[in-house]
Formats: sequence, C-alpha cells, structure tokens
Amino acid sequence: MNLTENRKIEHLDICLKQDVETGDPLFNDVRLVHQSLPETDLEDIDISCEFLGKKLDLPLLIAAMTGGCEEAEEINEALAGVAERKGLAFGVGSQRAMIEQPELTRTFSVRSTAPSILLLGNIGITALKRLPHDRVVRAVEAIEADGLCVHINPAQELFQNEGDHDFSGCANALESLCSAVPFPVIGKEVGNGISREAAERLKGAGVRAIDVGGLGGTSWSLIDSLRSGKDVSQYGAWGIPTAAAVLEAQVGLPVIATGGLRNGLHMAKAIALGADLCGIALPFLRILARDGIPGVEAFVEGLKQDFRHALFLTGCSNIAELRRTSFLLEAGLKEWADQRNLG
Ligand SMILES: Cc1cc2nc3c(=O)[nH]c(=O)nc-3n(C[C@H](O)[C@H](O)[C@H](O)COP(=O)(O)O)c2cc1C
Repeated sequence: MNLTENRKIEHLDICLKQDVETGDPLFNDVRLVHQSLPETDLEDIDISCEFLGKKLDLPLLIAAMTGGCEEAEEINEALAGVAERKGLAFGVGSQRAMIEQPELTRTFSVRSTAPSILLLGNIGITALKRLPHDRVVRAVEAIEADGLCVHINPAQELFQNEGDHDFSGCANALESLCSAVPFPVIGKEVGNGISREAAERLKGAGVRAIDVGGLGGTSWSLIDSLRSGKDVSQYGAWGIPTAAAVLEAQVGLPVIATGGLRNGLHMAKAIALGADLCGIALPFLRILARDGIPGVEAFVEGLKQDFRHALFLTGCSNIAELRRTSFLLEAGLKEWADQRNLG
C-alpha cells in the first residue's frame, strides 16, 4: 500500500470516528421571507434543475470524498447508485492515487452503476502543477466523468505532515489546463471558502464553475491535524463561512455551495443567496456507514421534502423563482456582507 492509499484510509477512519466539523456556515443568519399566499400546490413545485448541461431532480451534488482503496470502491459504488436513482450529481475523491497507480482506477469507476448522472472527477491543484495535461485528461476519460473539480486546499496542505506548501504557479497551471482540456473545470475549496478575489482569479483562469467549499462543515485543517498531531486550534475557525462564500463567489459563474449544508432549508437558503447547486459530503459517508443504502436514500428524500417546503413557504414554484426570492441577512453574515461590500 502506498502513502496516498494509506492516507485515504486514515481520512475515512477519522471522518467516521471523530468530530471533524468546525465553525459555523452562517445559514442561521439568513432569513427567507415567509409568504402566506403562496398560490402554489406543494405537489406541483418543480425542484429539478440543470447544471453543466445535465438535468438533476434536486440541486444536489454528493461532494467528492474518496477513491484509491478497497473501502472507497464500495463507498463510491453505493453513493453513485443513490445519485443515479435519486437524480443527483456525484463527485469522486482525488484521482491522484489512480494516476500514480492505474490499477486503482476501478475504485473510482462508477459509470456502469450511474450511467446518466453528472459525474465529476477530482485532482488537487498542487498535483496538477506536476502533471502533463494528457495524464489528467486520461484520468477523467477513464472514469467517463463529465467534468473535473480541481481542489484548492492551502490550509489542508499546511497542516498535513506531507503537505505541499508551494502554491506558486498554481493559477497558471489551472489556466493552462482549462484552455487545453475538452471538459469543464470547476475550482473547488475544501472547507475554508472562496473569496471574491479568489473567485475572480478562478474566472480569469477559465474555470466553468466555482465550488465555494466554505467554513462550517468538515474541516480539513482539523482532520489533518488529528493525523499529524500539530496543534491548529488557533486556526479552528479559519476561513469564509459557506453562506458568506456564496456571496463572495458571485462573479458571473455557476456556484456550488458546499461546507456544512445539513438540511433542505440550508439548501434553499444557499440557492436564494446565489448558488446554483448544493454539495454535501460528510453526512453521506456517515449515514452510509450507519444505515446503509436505505438510510442514504431516506436522507435524500428528507432533503427533497424540506427543500420543497422552503419553496412552498416562500411562494416559489421552481428554482428560478427561489433564486429571486427575498431574504434578509442578520448578525455575522450581514456584518460580513456590509464590510466586504457584497450587497
Ligand atoms: C472523507 C472525505 C474525503 C474528502 N476528500 C476530498 C477529495 O479527495 N477532494 C476534494 O476536492 N474534496 C474532498 N472532500 C471535501 C468535500 O468534497 C467537501 O468539500 C467538504 O467535506 C465540505 O462538505 P461537508 O461539510 O458537507 O462535508 C472530502 C470530504 C470528506 C468528508
């Protein structure tokens, strides 16, 4: 077993057994305005959407988690199957392991289980700098993905024992990739959020969408500090809370809201703030381990129901209307939006 494979197993183990969530995504600081004459029938509300040219039954991505070890193969297979049956998008974890060891490709390959889903590949930005484009293209094509998420994770790399601390040249590497590949590239944080400045740079580099990966859910600083034994307590709440990051990332590209979304109301708030798609990772892993595939399917049905209720109570009959619905910002989120001129 090589280092990358070993790290993947450790990550899964820590995520399943320890408290790895930190910060506050600030969704409690968003109020959607209640409408008492909604003029809609709950049953007629359309919660489907389109993202990167594919139709989804709910604006939800099972966000990138794993690949590269036996456990990962089972997890990807199970979650991609749920995505297919429930009409969701699905992202595999970092494909670096399969690029280094092609025999691990099967641990990421879910296309036969999920022939119609929006499927996203994944690679880290520091690995990208050292990889020729054709190897990245082959990795995406090998799993028949529709696009590639490039994860941008300076805080995680900083607190990982074997982390790469050289982020110089990353923007150029991303730009060169975006102009050379035949599929859409998504710039993705993993829990510390995307600022307006970073979003503008990502847009300039040619990404087709931004996953804000905000603060308030799974924390990679925390996970990798649990592995490395480094004390990162002063950086426990470092980053841009997810709700603020959705406002920050409005630069004219589709936005994915990920990081601490835990229910259908969080999803509705994220979309009202300007997200096009919502991403959830850790709860899927934990529910699968605890309750199996039926538990995961019940979780998705619960999300669909809560999300539909939010549309009903705001008088929206579809997602386009939800994106135009009125909301108020309170407390910390209002402060953030005011001081950063995000109105
Ligand atoms: C076990 C696990 C492994 C992950 N691995 C990756 C990865 O390989 N690449 C990536 O871009 N994000 C990875 N993530 C980050 C998630 O895609 C997501 O951005 C983050 O967990 C925040 O969402 P959450 O709060 O719903 O978990 C991982 C998350 C978890 C829980």
